[in-house]
Amino acid sequence: MKIAEIRVLEILDSRGRPALEVVAHLEGNGRSVSARAAVPSGASTGRHEALELRDGDKKRYHGGGLLKACASVEGEIAEALAKINPLDQRRIDETMIQLDGTPNKSRLGANAILGVSLALAKAAAKSAEKPLFCHLAGDGVSLLLPRPMMNVLNGGAHADNALDIQEFMIVPAGASSFREACRIGAEVFHALKDRLRKAGHSVNVGDEGGFAPDLRSSREALDFLMEAISAAGYRAGKQVFLALDVAASEILTPETRYHLKGEDAILTAEEMTDTLASLVQDYPILSIEDGLAEDDWAGWRHMTAALGEKTMLVGDDLFATNMARLKRGIKEQCATAILIKPNQIGTLTETLDVVSHARNCGFACVISHRSGDTEDTTIADLAVALGTGWIKTGGLSRSERTAKYNRLMRIEKMLGNDARYAGLEGIPR
Ligand code: PGA
Ligand code: ZN
Repeated sequence: MKIAEIRVLEILDSRGRPALEVVAHLEGNGRSVSARAAVPSGASTGRHEALELRDGDKKRYHGGGLLKACASVEGEIAEALAKINPLDQRRIDETMIQLDGTPNKSRLGANAILGVSLALAKAAAKSAEKPLFCHLAGDGVSLLLPRPMMNVLNGGAHADNALDIQEFMIVPAGASSFREACRIGAEVFHALKDRLRKAGHSVNVGDEGGFAPDLRSSREALDFLMEAISAAGYRAGKQVFLALDVAASEILTPETRYHLKGEDAILTAEEMTDTLASLVQDYPILSIEDGLAEDDWAGWRHMTAALGEKTMLVGDDLFATNMARLKRGIKEQCATAILIKPNQIGTLTETLDVVSHARNCGFACVISHRSGDTEDTTIADLAVALGTGWIKTGGLSRSERTAKYNRLMRIEKMLGNDARYAGLEGIPR
């Protein structure tokens, strides 16, 4: 088949900001197929991410318009890809990287490039008459339903409250299937709602579909989670575990200190590590993401030595799904896992290369959504195909979050007896 047409549309994301949607049409052998992909967008965006190109024209979408990125897709990119085999994903992605010519995809926009990369991958899967997760599955990697990290309490840049930590997540690792994990997650979510309401707190939800009550301290938030787990009839540390995303780059002061406003504390990296270590001591926390800031390599080294055996330490802003940063982290023994967000790097091929390198070096990989997301469910297929065992895709509300959970339940059903849930295998406790 050949690429017949690549079209693009400015759609809306879950925060009502423009998002880029690409539709790829393939034709050949008397057949035609088309597929669409949408690109998400962050709020606590790391400094080292590939560039999301926005117009900056204040008269449209307060500067957030995507007309320039759209023009890249239907103009230069479509032209450069016209003669390329749509099944050769690496060649497609390398062509776009070269065409862009910048280290961070700032000329054409990583959003434009990723939209095309994913839409073509989905169209290729359709042309092979395979579901995306089968098409993306690597040689020798077994399909695996991931443990969901469900963000049920939102703080930081994702909520209008005083919680310093951005995400408080529940992880139903002790479930026997993905479907069961969703049920447990939803039951805990509703038990949490009840308890928050009874305590007089708001039960409005934040950007990622978790509650966003005006709690003050991390311990208060964690205590609510522990109570909700047991009120729903589960045992914390047996069936349901906890995970945090501190998003510490967001609370860094110019003096390289960490400002926990809600708790009125300004801490060094060592003191932050001690604070997190005491939380790990007191709660069944199996993963901490971005416990320190994106350029605090020395702090990360210390934190990894101190905490890396007790809980998974995930680098999000630290690595930005970027191979060079991942290699530095591995060499300097910073973190034990990497968060994988395709739009941090901007092509599917680079995303797959980072996952494969991380895995070869013994790092865990967590496939992730963004806080501004859409109904696109590509990351669900990616998590199963790559067998990473972890996905982070929000709370148990808001359709752009549940769309990914629902897709994973459908995949599990499609796999029938061959479906395998990551469960308790290899978790750090
Ligand atoms: P973002 O948040 O999408 O706003 O960057 C998600 C995260 O920090 O993991
Ligand atoms: Zn993060």
